[in-house]
Amino acid sequence: MGTNWKDTAAVAAGFEAYDDLPERVLGYPAVFAGLRLGDPEVRTVLDYGCGPGKVSLRVARRYDVDVVAVDIATRMVEIARATRSHPRIQHRLVERLPLQFLADGSVDAAMCCYVFINIGDLERIRAIAAEVHRVLRPGGRFAVLDTNPDTVGVRFSTFVSGEAGRAYEPGQRRRVLLDLPTGSVLELVDHHWPRQTYPDVLAGAGFRDVTTAEPVLGAGSHVPPGSLLDTDRPAEADRPPFLVTTGVK
Ligand SMILES: C[S@@+](CC[C@H](N)C(=O)[O-])C[C@H]1O[C@@H](n2cnc3c(N)ncnc32)[C@H](O)[C@@H]1O
Repeated sequence: MGTNWKDTAAVAAGFEAYDDLPERVLGYPAVFAGLRLGDPEVRTVLDYGCGPGKVSLRVARRYDVDVVAVDIATRMVEIARATRSHPRIQHRLVERLPLQFLADGSVDAAMCCYVFINIGDLERIRAIAAEVHRVLRPGGRFAVLDTNPDTVGVRFSTFVSGEAGRAYEPGQRRRVLLDLPTGSVLELVDHHWPRQTYPDVLAGAGFRDVTTAEPVLGAGSHVPPGSLLDTDRPAEADRPPFLVTTGVK
């Protein structure tokens, strides 16, 4: 089994403490661009697997959208509600699919950030993609962000996922080490999904125009001055830490 997000308070606390620097410089901006956030017709966004609510809050603050933020872990939803409430965010605990509070075709865009890698059962991943497809309106976009299966073992500025040189089977457990600002390390266990899994899952759920992005640091990146990425040549400049797969309903 991978990390037990649902029942482990220490995991929630550790993930809350993690400073998601490469994710917010490279990963989430690619998701927001893929979802066309900022376009006037994108008014409602589903954040599926919202965790402690960091990404939902950034979306609500930056864009004039309503966010429906859902997670399977009680503690995550508690943290999100307690620390990142916003008049345009609705946090919900999701105990099972379907998401009964969302009608067919009722959201304009949806994202799943670092959720598929938590799930070792491909059928459960397919069920999430199918449910997202149901709740999206025609033309709505779905973006899936995960760590990149082709850069396992690379030491990025705040994390390393998997062991260098090791070949992982589909769904196999993969150890992840997240550096925390306190100097300690949060150890998680993800599941390895080869890059082709993502377009296959989205296409299988009915999404069209499926594309993949692998952002690296470049001239247009907004690197916080003095941060761990503000160095001569961080790994993120040459090796893509993330894979972003986007499809259209
Ligand atoms: C690594 S955290 C990412 C949180 C957030 N998306 C972010 O990027 O900061 C993964 C989250 O996915 C949630 N999760 C895992 N499986 C889920 C499922 N089947 N349905 C909903 N949420 C799930 C976990 O509880 C956890 O909060």
